[in-house]
Amino acid sequence: MLVLGLEGTAWNLSAGIVSESEIIAVSESTYLPKEGGIHPREAAQHHAAHMRDVIRRVFEEASRKSIRPSDLDGIAFSQGPGMGPCLRTVATAARALSLKLKAPLIGVNHCIAHIEVGKWLCELEDPVTLYVSGANSQVLAYRTGRYRIFGETLDIGIGNALDKFARALGLSHPGGPKIEELALKSERYIPLPYVVKGMDFSFSGLTTAAIEASRKNPVEDVCYSLQETAFAMLTEVTERALAHCEKDEVLLVGGVGANRRLAEMVKEMCEARGARFAVPPIKVLKDNGIMIAYTGLLLLKAGKTLSIKDSRVIPDYRPDEVEVVWIK
Ligand code: ATP
Ligand code: FE2
Repeated sequence: MLVLGLEGTAWNLSAGIVSESEIIAVSESTYLPKEGGIHPREAAQHHAAHMRDVIRRVFEEASRKSIRPSDLDGIAFSQGPGMGPCLRTVATAARALSLKLKAPLIGVNHCIAHIEVGKWLCELEDPVTLYVSGANSQVLAYRTGRYRIFGETLDIGIGNALDKFARALGLSHPGGPKIEELALKSERYIPLPYVVKGMDFSFSGLTTAAIEASRKNPVEDVCYSLQETAFAMLTEVTERALAHCEKDEVLLVGGVGANRRLAEMVKEMCEARGARFAVPPIKVLKDNGIMIAYTGLLLLKAGKTLSIKDSRVIPDYRPDEVEVVWIK
């Protein structure tokens, strides 16, 4: 079985083709704002302008493995959550491909795709997942037919918080990797607000406090303290979900999962609890078409396809709305 997946919920437009056993091909094109954060309409225009090329390149790579477009068994696309204009652009392309290739259309929840591709490539069975990206920050685990959200951000995602702080310092987008670099140069902790409420966390007040602190302290110290505080909050909630669900695996996914300090903190926590920790390679950690293709394949095998009329995008699509029919 072969499925093509299209991803473009935010700044990365990507196409991937997978079979049940391997990644066949992947291509991408990334929108980078000239200044400031991501502008949804500009990002959607980027996706529209590069769609043809991204699809052409993924087919080109697949053809080197003797796979033709007509061999595809399904066309999957990220139906949400994400920015409305971006989602609509990607859905339009997916519908067109589905009609042209006479392959069924499959709508994929973006958050679940991060989990499923991580489980696949890291060979995990039933992990607690810490999903940390620009817009999203959630702790999820499978329970009775759904991926339940055990904890999540009450305001902005951790990636957006890091990007916002970096922007205030005059650093270019994306800010996460620059903060990580600067933080390596300090070990002086400046107290910042640690906000965990029940199982949820919040980054907005912490970001404002960090911007405030950067006016009076060396920037390296503030980067270090911001990372230590925010990542400790995420690790605490992940640990509590692990204990509550009585699971023994933790999966870290999303663009912020590339941060070595975050991975180290979660790994230490896992070691102390005797749990296995895994983080997939960067190309599937950030947004990518492979994860949409793979989750599409799981849905297709379970018979879950979409008619064109039911293929509207869902900008606030929550993972726990999805019936996980592929796990028995
Ligand atoms: P989603 O649609 O899932 O919200 P996204 O559009 O935010 O995803 P991702 O590629 O998953 O895209 O994540 C991008 C975020 O990851 C940015 O906020 C960026 O600053 C952050 N990031 C990337 N590398 C690092 C790093 N090394 N440390 C911290 N943050 C990082
Ligand atoms: Fe994502």
